[in-house]
Amino acid sequence: MSTPYVLELKDLRKSFGKTEIIRGANLAVQAGERVAIIGPNGAGKSTLFNLISGRFAPTSGEVWLNGQRIDGKKPFEINRLGLSRSFQITNIFPKLSVFENLRCGVLWSLGYKYTFFKFLADLDDANERAEELLEMIRLDKKRDTLAMNLTYAEQRALEIGITIAGGANVVLLDEPTAGMSKSETKRFIELIREVTVGKTLLTVEHDMGVVFGLADKIAVVVYGEVIAYDTPEAVRANQRVQEAYLGSVLAEEQAAGAAH
Ligand SMILES: Nc1ncnc2c1ncn2[C@@H]1O[C@H](COP(=O)(O)OP(=O)(O)OP(=O)(O)O)[C@@H](O)[C@H]1O
Ligand SMILES: [Mg+2]
Repeated sequence: MSTPYVLELKDLRKSFGKTEIIRGANLAVQAGERVAIIGPNGAGKSTLFNLISGRFAPTSGEVWLNGQRIDGKKPFEINRLGLSRSFQITNIFPKLSVFENLRCGVLWSLGYKYTFFKFLADLDDANERAEELLEMIRLDKKRDTLAMNLTYAEQRALEIGITIAGGANVVLLDEPTAGMSKSETKRFIELIREVTVGKTLLTVEHDMGVVFGLADKIAVVVYGEVIAYDTPEAVRANQRVQEAYLGSVLAEEQAAGAAH
């Protein structure tokens, strides 16, 4: 049966060997929503992304994207159907320039592998789109800089540019602000907000300030299940979430704040 949601997980399960890591996850995301996925270390957040993006096949359950069932499909097929993800490990070519990296992302999404003549025909479009992306991620001044010579935050911005290069309508970002300072994080979240306007965004995030600032909805993943999926206010007030996760995290952040 089809679904009115842009992305839906139905009783999704994944075992590695005998251990069930994802234990019946359900989630139904509406078009244009910004969703923060939170939860303790090892809860299964990255595994969920791997299941959605096709890196792993689920043991059972269903994944629906843009009205089509995608569980069991290959990552590139899922990408063509409108979903793009970034990785915790940076996914850029260090010895290519910023512009060339973006153009690679665009060409890949256009299916440049078809024929050489198709490649040439696509090149003008790809150049134009790469220039557009360059401005969106605010690296136009670094156009010809090799990716390896960018700052860490700039590399992450480039990675976002590559992730959205193909025009996917659903974007998954796994801890995009990991390793950034508070001020870098703040600017970066603003960038993410801008470049994902009109798209559906799922982002794994540990910084609660970022989560409550960015997200329309929060999905709380604990022990391989989505135990809550609601607005930030409702999730904050949710007793089960308080007990399972948020209570301890907010207390820790308060203690850390008090210590500084
Ligand atoms: N390929 C794999 N083979 C076996 N076990 C795995 C594999 N990938 C993940 N796991 C296990 O699944 C569990 C969930 O891991 P996952 O990386 O999804 O957690 P996470 O919520 O993303 O954690 P973190 O916040 O630390 O990034 C962990 O116990 C991990 O060891
Ligand atoms: Mg993870």
